[in-house]
Amino acid sequence: MANRARTLGNKVVYQIYVRSFQDSDGDGIGDLRGITHRLDYLEHLGVDYLWITPFFVSPQNDNGYDVADYRAVEPMFGTMDDFDELSREAEAHGIGLMLDMVFNHTSTSHEWFRRALAGDPRYLAYYKFVDAAPDATAENPGVPPTNWVSKFGGSAWEYVPSLNKWYLHLFDKSQADLDWDNPEVRAELVDVVRFWKAKGVSGFRFDVVNLISKPAVWEDDHEGDGRRFYTDGPHVHEYLQELVRESGIDDMVTVGEMSSTSIDNCVRYTNPDFHELSMAFSFHHLKVDYLNGDKWALKDPDIPELRAIFRDWQEQMTEQGGWNALFWSNHDQPRPNSRFGDVSTPDSWRRTSELLGTCIHLMRGTPYIYQGEELGMTNPDFRSIDEYRDVESKNYYEILQEEGKSAEEAFRIVSERSRDDSRTPVQWDATPTAGFTTSTPWIGVPSNHVTVNAEAEVADPSSVWSFYQGLIRLRKTEPVIQEGDVRFLPVLSDAVIAYERTLGSTRVVVACNFSGDDVAALAAGAVADGEVLVANYADVAAERGELRLRPYEVRAYVWR
Ligand code: GLC
Repeated sequence: MANRARTLGNKVVYQIYVRSFQDSDGDGIGDLRGITHRLDYLEHLGVDYLWITPFFVSPQNDNGYDVADYRAVEPMFGTMDDFDELSREAEAHGIGLMLDMVFNHTSTSHEWFRRALAGDPRYLAYYKFVDAAPDATAENPGVPPTNWVSKFGGSAWEYVPSLNKWYLHLFDKSQADLDWDNPEVRAELVDVVRFWKAKGVSGFRFDVVNLISKPAVWEDDHEGDGRRFYTDGPHVHEYLQELVRESGIDDMVTVGEMSSTSIDNCVRYTNPDFHELSMAFSFHHLKVDYLNGDKWALKDPDIPELRAIFRDWQEQMTEQGGWNALFWSNHDQPRPNSRFGDVSTPDSWRRTSELLGTCIHLMRGTPYIYQGEELGMTNPDFRSIDEYRDVESKNYYEILQEEGKSAEEAFRIVSERSRDDSRTPVQWDATPTAGFTTSTPWIGVPSNHVTVNAEAEVADPSSVWSFYQGLIRLRKTEPVIQEGDVRFLPVLSDAVIAYERTLGSTRVVVACNFSGDDVAALAAGAVADGEVLVANYADVAAERGELRLRPYEVRAYVWR
C-alpha cells in the first residue's frame, strides 16, 4: 500500500488568500506579483507548498469562489505572465503551488451559465435547473423545488422568469451548482485541471468537493437544511476517481475541502488505495463553539468535545489508512487565537498562539498555516458592520435581526463569526497600512499591527513567528512526527488535550492546556525521564510527578 506518511508527513502547506496577502500595484487589493515579492519570507519560514485561493476571472461576489473563466487570471490579481513568473520563482525557492479548483459551481457570469440563460439546451444541462409550476411568474414564482437553505442564508433555489425554471445554488445565488451527473460537465472540469497541470503546478485544492454529487430525486428536508441529501452524495467517490484518473493527478498533492463529512468517507477520499485525493479538510473541530450546531449562536469552545473529535479523526483515519490535513484556520474561519484562547495581554496572546500551533503541528497529517497565523494575527477590532465586506456576514447581520436580535447582539455575533475576521491584510510592518499596500486596503487593518507584524517578529528569536519556524523545522527533522502512530491520552482536567506519537522506540507526548488556569494535566510518571521537545514557557524541566500546566501552556516531551 502506498504510504501518505512517507510523502506528505514531512510537508507543510501555507495558505495564501491572494486578496489580502500583498498588494504590488497600489490598488489596495493583493495580487500575484505580491506573492512573488514575498517568496523569500515564505522560504525562510520553511513551507513546502502554497495553496493559493482562486485568482481566476470572477465578478468577486464571493471573492473569487465564483469563477467566470477557469483558465484566465482576474485582472485585479494580475496577468498570466505574472502567474508564470510566480510559478518559476516559487520553484527556484523550493516551493510548489497548489491551485484552488472551484468545481461545485460556477459564477452565473460564466459563459456556460449565460448560454443556459439564453435557453441553449446543451448548457441548461450543465446546471441543476428544475421546471417551475406552469403558472409561475416573477412576482409569484411559487415554492422552490425543495426547502433547502443556501450556506449563505435564504433559499438554495433561484427562479428565472425567462425560462420558468429554478436553478440550485448551495452558496450565493450568483454561484450556480454544476450538474456533475452530466459527463460533458465532468469532461470540461478534467480539461481545466489538465490546463493548470500543464503549467507545472504541484497540486490542487478542491473547493467543497464532497458536495458535487446531488441526489436523483429532489425532496424537502424536514430535519435540517438539506445537507444530508447532497453531502458525500451518491456518486461522489466515482466522480472524484474519474477526475483524478482522467486528469492524471494521482501522484500530485491534492486536498479536498469536505463540508460536514464523515470519517468513513474521508478514508475513501484519502486512502491511496482508492485513488482519490491525498488528504482532506474536515470541520467538526471548528464547530465546538457553535451553540446547538448553529454557527450564528455563540458558546465557549467545548474542549472535551474538541478532544474527542481530534481523537476520533486522528486514530481512526490512521487505522484505516486515511490522511488528515491539519488546520485551525483558513479564509472562512475566525482567527483561532481569538477564538480558542486569550489574546487580551501580550503574554496570553503569545502563549495561546504557540499552544494552538504546537497542538496540531505535532499531530499525524499535513499541517496548513493560514497567512498571518505564523504571526499570531487576531480577529480585527472593527466597530461597525460597514467595516465588513463578506456576503455571508452581511446576509447574517440582517437575518439575525429579522430573527429578533438587536443590532448590537447581531453585530457581536457577526464580529466573532465573520469570515472577514481572517481576511484582513497580512501585517508586514507597523506602518498605517501594515506594509500591505501603498493605498487604501480593501478591508481594514487591525490596530494591533503596530506590534503583531512580520518585520518585528522575524527578527525576534522569541516571537510567535520564530516559534512557528521551529515547529516546521521539527517536523522536517523528526520521523516520529512525520510517520509515527498516534494515540490520545487520558487527562486529569477537562481543559487538557494530550496525545502521544510513537515510531519504533521513539515516543513523543504532547499536552495542551486550553484554559487560563493552572491545571493538572497528566498522571504522575506520565512524562518521567522525558526530554523537553517543545515548550511555550521558558523554565520547563523534566517532570517526574504529576504534570501540571500553567495558563495556555503546551509541552512536548520525547523519549528516544
Ligand atoms: C468554500 C470556500 C469558501 C467559499 C465556498 C463556496 O467553502 O472556502 O470561501 O465561499 O466554498 O465556493
